[in-house]
Formats: sequence, structure tokens, C-alpha cells
Amino acid sequence: MGDFNILGIVGSLRRASYNRGLMRAAEELLPEGAALTVADISGLPLFSEDLEADAPAAALALKRQVREADAILIATPEYNYSIPGALKNAIDWASRPYGDNSFDGKPAAIMGASVGMLGTARAQYHLRQVFVFLNMHPLNQPEIMVPFAQQNFDAEGNLTNEKTREMISQMLQSLVEWSKRLSK
Ligand SMILES: Cc1cc2nc3c(=O)[nH]c(=O)nc-3n(C[C@H](O)[C@H](O)[C@H](O)COP(=O)(O)O)c2cc1C
Repeated sequence: MGDFNILGIVGSLRRASYNRGLMRAAEELLPEGAALTVADISGLPLFSEDLEADAPAAALALKRQVREADAILIATPEYNYSIPGALKNAIDWASRPYGDNSFDGKPAAIMGASVGMLGTARAQYHLRQVFVFLNMHPLNQPEIMVPFAQQNFDAEGNLTNEKTREMISQMLQSLVEWSKRLSK
């Protein structure tokens, strides 16, 4: 753990995911004193209110990680002009039961890569809307929306675009500063 602990959530379960590549780049570009842990959302069952009272271990673990984090960093693809079901499912689990939302008051930053020309813009703005009900505090800038991902990552999903790496570095710095301002 560092002085400032970020929890990363990747909205893609794909092995060579570009968005997982963005999160790996963030791990390499952390500011001094910051640490990044990436949550595993792949084992979460589909959310049902019937399961809430006796929530599965994976959901309780995610909630604990969210609660312990100083800030949240989400790297998400865009699926059908919105956020992927796996990401929404994870958010739903960690926000429930009503009155026990682990995201409450958390600062957050969003980045995303897609093969399309808008680089997840539509999904990111949907996610910002979700943040309203979660009472999260998203960083506004820089926005990181990587279009035409196949030109900016290698076959294993590693980010190869130097400019984007610089933007991620700036975003992480801004996220730390934003979180510290909020906690004053
Ligand atoms: C169900 C589905 C819907 C998609 N919808 C969009 C979309 O709305 N916009 C877009 O730019 N790309 C879309 N794509 C393509 C993704 O950008 C591409 O699959 C990308 O590699 C996903 O991110 P990942 O590499 O992190 O898994 C879609 C892909 C899937 C599987």
C-alpha cells in the first residue's frame, strides 16, 4: 500500500484487452507515493436483489477494496454506445444494498480505448451519469479516450502510444491532487 491508494477497475474481461493495457500503463506511471491495485470483477455472479442479503464473497471483497481506496480509476471499453455489462454488474454489486454504497463520496477518473473513432466517449459519459447516483466525484480533465485502438496497442494489448502514456501520467497526478482537495 502507498500513501495514496487507487483501486483500478477494468470493464473488459478480454484476455488481450486494450483497456487492461491502459490500466497496466497506469501501474507503470504512478506518481510518487501512489499505489494501484486492480480489482478482479470476472468472478462476480450476475447481480440479483435476491442475493443481496447473503452477498457472495467476490462482491464483499470488491466492496471492501472500494471502501479502502482513496480513489477509483476505471478503464472501460464502449459496448453498444454504453458501458459493458460486466462493469455495470460490478458497480451494482458494490453499490448495494441501498444505504451501503461503497462508492459514496469517492473521487474517480475514467479512461477508455475502443476500436471506433470516438474512443469510448459515449460510454464514459454514461458512466459519469451513473456516478451521479453513486455520489462519486469524477475528475473532469484530462479526458483519455483512445480511438482506433488497434493502431495504439500491440497484439498483447500493451499501449504503444507515447502521447497517451503522457496523458495517463497527467491524469494520475490530477487524480491525486483532486482527491486531496476533496478531502480537505
Ligand atoms: C458487445 C460489443 C459492443 C461494442 N460496441 C462498441 C461501441 O459501441 N463503440 C465502439 O467504439 N466499439 C464497440 N465495440 C468494439 C470495442 O471497441 C472493441 O471490442 C474493444 O477491443 C473492446 O475493448 P477491450 O479491448 O478492452 O476488450 C464493441 C464490442 C463488443 C464486444
